[in-house]
Amino acid sequence: MTGSAKRNASIVALSLWAGLLVAGAGYAQDRGMTLQGLGGGEVLSQINAAPDVERQSFSDGGFGRAYRQQPPLIPHKVDGYQITPTNNACMNCHDWPGNTKVKAPKVSETHYVDRQGVRLDKIAGTRYFCRQCHVPQADAKPLVGNTFENAAEVK
Ligand code: HEC
Ligand code: HEC
Repeated sequence: MTGSAKRNASIVALSLWAGLLVAGAGYAQDRGMTLQGLGGGEVLSQINAAPDVERQSFSDGGFGRAYRQQPPLIPHKVDGYQITPTNNACMNCHDWPGNTKVKAPKVSETHYVDRQGVRLDKIAGTRYFCRQCHVPQADAKPLVGNTFENAAEVK
């Protein structure tokens, strides 16, 4: 292709792309108008600031588990703890011996076993991303009543 033919080709490609974008935006708008939230069409006019609390919650001795195999819920804030390939902020407090200094429970031994069953001296790759399984929990009252029973209660 000559230089100008190339330029023309890219101009055609660009205008096609722009056309698609405009069409896409129109489509999204049409769909947006038919959507209705749980609030029944009410639009939120005010957003409350998140409560400024040091701890996520105050549940003495942790939260109960709903079934035996449940990953325990996290009773503290996690916003500041990043997990990157080279640093796992959670393990600063939850790996031995660091955990003894901050009085945090050590991750259980299952977290040091890889998927072949080999015991490791560092956290297993399968357990590296803590929040895949553990979620922060606040001691909040349910917004809507429910009849949930944990595994022990339904027996
Ligand atoms: C600064 C230290 C610190 C860091 C960092 C930290 N934790 Fe904790 N964690 C604690 C302490 C202390 C407790 C014990 C409960 C309490 O006092 O809040 C705890 C409790 C927990 C529990 C409850 C364990 C149980 O048996 O009930 C889980 C799960 C947990 N943390 C997960 C995490 C995860 C995931 C991260 C990273 C996103 C993390 N923690 C980062 C200190 C820490
Ligand atoms: C694949 C899911 C999974 C991942 C990922 C995972 N955990 Fe767990 N964790 C569990 C389960 C399930 C339990 C409870 C059973 C057990 O002890 O193995 C548990 C238990 C714990 C406990 C309580 C230990 C005790 O003896 O009471 C702590 C603390 C904890 N995990 C922290 C972490 C941290 C920190 C990470 C990230 C480095 C992490 N977990 C990653 C599933 C997971």
